[in-house]
Amino acid sequence: MSDSQIPFDKFTRNSPVVFFTGAGISAESGLATFRDPHGHWSKYDPMKLASADGFRQDPELVLEWYAARRKQAAAAKPNAGHRAITKFQKLFPNSAVITQNVDGLHARAGNDPVWELHGNIHRQKCFSCGSAADSGRDVSLRMNYCDCGGLLRPDVVWFGESLPLEVLNHAFDATSRCEIFFSIGTSTQIYPAAQLPYEAQNRGAFVIEINPETTPFSSQADLSLRAKSGIALSKMYEEFHAALL
Ligand code: APR
Repeated sequence: MSDSQIPFDKFTRNSPVVFFTGAGISAESGLATFRDPHGHWSKYDPMKLASADGFRQDPELVLEWYAARRKQAAAAKPNAGHRAITKFQKLFPNSAVITQNVDGLHARAGNDPVWELHGNIHRQKCFSCGSAADSGRDVSLRMNYCDCGGLLRPDVVWFGESLPLEVLNHAFDATSRCEIFFSIGTSTQIYPAAQLPYEAQNRGAFVIEINPETTPFSSQADLSLRAKSGIALSKMYEEFHAALL
């Protein structure tokens, strides 16, 4: 990457910035992605583990898989990529993180605000009435029930389900206003989230993609870097910092 590819003179510290992330940003924290060769969906059927039908058919299997993932997420630590975003957010106070990740690592790194499009694996909600489960509830128990009698499920968005409307509105609002949009560690295949980089570019933002592999969006990005997010974001932070401070 060379500095000359980024039009630093177009931006100020007041420029609105979005960091849009997918599973790849958590890869360096040791969490598996979904569509990489060793990702979750290379081993498991997403319709069995991440759909309402799958849950109806075998809730124990689904809850067991999420319990294991919740444990991995809790044991993982934010990595250099998450930490670079924390520094970026101090440089650009008018910035937001929009994530497809459910692991909670952005918030743990101090990123703020964080719009979690696909929910959060550490929360539960009722499969019947949709109520949020009391946060003090022991999530290590596999079969937990709501006061209404319904079974509790992870508060994540499964295939075929709608994204939380308020979060989605915040995400589209931030995307439509931003001047710089980073698309980091996402295969850009799952909609509506995958629409965001296109939306940002259509609204005039400079869009920077960071991913070791090409994605359907790569050829369209203003700058597409074949790199891991920890290294690329740390380096890019230094460049923005030097150019804008
Ligand atoms: N740094 C940056 N990117 C990385 C790294 C890394 N160290 N390692 C892998 N990647 C990239 C991969 O090349 C891939 O393009 O991260 C991307 C991960 O893509 P997916 O596994 O498809 O994850 P994501 O885009 O977040 O998936 C979207 O699909 O099933 C789901 O609900 C799940 O939120 C998820 C959604």
